[in-house]
Amino acid sequence: MFKRFRRVRINPIIRGLVEESRVEIKDFIYPLFVKEGRGVKKEITSMPGVFQMSIDEIIKECEELLKLGLNKILLFGIPDVKDSIGSDALSEEGIIARAIREIKRIYGADLLVVTDLCFCEYTDHGHCGILDLQHNSVDNDATLEIIQKQSLIHAHAGSDLIAPSGMMDGMIEAIRDALDENGFVNLPIMSYSTKFASAYYGPFRDVAESSPSFGDRRSYQMNPSNRREALAESLEDEVQGADILMVKPALAYLDVVRDIREASLLPLCVYNVSGEYSMLKAAQKAGVIDYERVLMETLTSFKRAGADIIISYHAKEAARLLAKSKG
Ligand code: PBG
Ligand code: ZN
Repeated sequence: MFKRFRRVRINPIIRGLVEESRVEIKDFIYPLFVKEGRGVKKEITSMPGVFQMSIDEIIKECEELLKLGLNKILLFGIPDVKDSIGSDALSEEGIIARAIREIKRIYGADLLVVTDLCFCEYTDHGHCGILDLQHNSVDNDATLEIIQKQSLIHAHAGSDLIAPSGMMDGMIEAIRDALDENGFVNLPIMSYSTKFASAYYGPFRDVAESSPSFGDRRSYQMNPSNRREALAESLEDEVQGADILMVKPALAYLDVVRDIREASLLPLCVYNVSGEYSMLKAAQKAGVIDYERVLMETLTSFKRAGADIIISYHAKEAARLLAKSKG
């Protein structure tokens, strides 16, 4: 006697009843890139639908997000002036600090402001911290000191969730200490805990103006080949005090998402990165796929692999599709 799996596939209602994973609007965090100026809204050629925006435009964008039911943003600052240590990120008057203050002033508790904490958008060399020229790399422990300062800039400005992405060893402990010593005991940290040195970040570096001027990030980001190390990285950040873990990129690393899901009880986020977005957009433009279905199938795979939270440039499109499928 064979089993009749098709019994529970016979109509949409029963298919819905036995559905195991489902993408919801509340799962999404939408990335935004803030630039100096007024009335600036500049589309990125490699990422159609993604813009660099000045603070006033970001404020309008947030209104639109809230209308779509999206109430979490991930904020990246792109300063006009860059230097060797990313001073703009360490100033109360820097682009990120002013943007956080203005967004929080207007939207308060209605909008969760997650802040990416790294230096590559702020340094003239485009690396994620202070250079160690002897080794052609980034000085880990010197960078931890400015990471602590940067975390306090975010905290004082009103960040709701700090998301360090620089892959420095000890960054979570350093940030937790700085926050706790300054009275921010309730400010959570979402670590980019397992972040690979990936070619999928290509388009992001156009929008964030953060390409390294020499070399690459392989001396601090992870080797895409390493599965055990990927798990160890995230578990270490849990020990150091991370509140939420992350795997980045998403699609090529779903095995790693599953490994971490099974080894940790913490909430888990995936970053559906720029190159993943650009590939789908290019396929849509070429007319070679059913874009909306491929998009929802891709997003569902993140949930099935074990992710709770999805950072995605597709969030607005997904929110519209999800609203449509309900109504
Ligand atoms: C900065 C940072 C990067 C991304 C998020 N934060 C780029 C990098 O490490 O080069 C990538 C995001 C994307 O590709 O969408 N450390
Ligand atoms: Zn960086």
